[in-house]
Amino acid sequence: MVMQVQECFFDRFRCSPDHIASAPGRVNIIGEHIDYCGFSVLPCALDRCAYVAISKTDDNDMSVIHNVKSSEYPSGTLKIVDRFIELKQNSSLARNWCDYIICGAYAAVKYLMAGRRDDKDAELCLFREVIGGYRIVMHSDIPPGAGLSSSSALVVASCLAILTYSLSPDMSLVAQSCTDAERLIGTMGGGMDQAVCCLGQLNHALHVHFVPHLSARPIPLPSGISFVICDSRVVAEKAQGARDAFNTRVCECRVAALLLGKHLRLGTTSTLREVFDGYKTMQDAVLDDIGVLQNLALISEQVFQSTSYTFADVRSQLSMEEWSSVCSHEQLLLLERSTALNLRQRTMHVLKEAARVLQFCDTCCTTNWSSHANAQISLDRLGAALSTSHNSLKELYDCSCEELNTLVQCCRDGGALGARLTGAGWGGCVVAMIYTNDREDFVKHLGSSYYVPRGVELNVVDRFVFVATASKGAAIVYK
Ligand code: GLA
Repeated sequence: MVMQVQECFFDRFRCSPDHIASAPGRVNIIGEHIDYCGFSVLPCALDRCAYVAISKTDDNDMSVIHNVKSSEYPSGTLKIVDRFIELKQNSSLARNWCDYIICGAYAAVKYLMAGRRDDKDAELCLFREVIGGYRIVMHSDIPPGAGLSSSSALVVASCLAILTYSLSPDMSLVAQSCTDAERLIGTMGGGMDQAVCCLGQLNHALHVHFVPHLSARPIPLPSGISFVICDSRVVAEKAQGARDAFNTRVCECRVAALLLGKHLRLGTTSTLREVFDGYKTMQDAVLDDIGVLQNLALISEQVFQSTSYTFADVRSQLSMEEWSSVCSHEQLLLLERSTALNLRQRTMHVLKEAARVLQFCDTCCTTNWSSHANAQISLDRLGAALSTSHNSLKELYDCSCEELNTLVQCCRDGGALGARLTGAGWGGCVVAMIYTNDREDFVKHLGSSYYVPRGVELNVVDRFVFVATASKGAAIVYK
């Protein structure tokens, strides 16, 4: 890939890039739709990456952004700062692939702003000062729209490529800056994708914490087991349709956090994690985190009605001040447009999924894998956690779709220990946990049960089904 990018760069610009940054896609093993609520997650970085090759233009003004797959992704010639201002001012503007590179430039500015006062004018001044004109060639082998974070990888690679001109960046801060900057495109993501993209470790999944600050612990995955990614071939385009559905979920969780926090007299709590922290300190008995999450789930079942709420139902329960602490004006409009707010279902998913992550990590780290009997019990437990997670995403979080559900079922019928949708959902991929030795039969089974009936030739099924190889995070790969 790196050579291909280099060659394309030379063909397009008749010069070599100053450097090339790479940033991996990710698969989330478990912990879906809980990062933006403040709970920890367990993704791993993939061996598929986005690459950004860069050099500065002579006038340092206009940028030319080119994609190796230029027939699918047309080149752009633009002033990065002008496009940034446009995107900032008009959130309904149609996005294109180059905008992820604009986000990367914005992330670089945010990185350099860290620790300074959050002042919009200063931000724009710095933007003009540090972001000039670049020649850029981008390439990627992360399937787009498959829920494997192809877009965040591009943002991270661009940010890293730009920052490398002035410093050797701290990758945790790159992750944080990219998370903030990517909101420019419109989804209110929680930071999992950028964190694992920046901090991924070879042969390990990453237990990522967001509270009290971003931190990550490598988790060894059981040997003899493969996590297989299976693409449903339903595209979930973050920058388009799935965006509103995603953002509505984020807002539902925030409203639920406010109402639950109020019920528990915790003051204004804008995330379920804040409710968790407040509630935990109220406990007399020493409960572990899983116990606290379970108790909170029981309370939520009593606090929230099982049927959905209308916007009017919840509007009256919160003051204007409380509303503005969790939702922007635009998000409020989004909620107003949603016909049904399922606060109980969303909360139950989040709290139980957060507990599943802790249990999963604990099982991975504490099992004595050399004892056959112990290993078997643990593997069954891990597999069951994946399947329960999927059911919860399907039933309580309502972010699955028919094809994902069918694919999960095919995985289970094909011998997977467990399987679930991975990423935001509404399309994209499933992650299945299988015995590595069963791989061939598993792929064959998926071929005949899922792919062939949908028009995919047997000999190309492995384009859509591949083993996740836990890889390292973003890096400069050519200088
Ligand atoms: C997207 C977001 C992440 C996370 C997942 C769902 O990938 O970018 O932050 O919320 O969806 O788990």
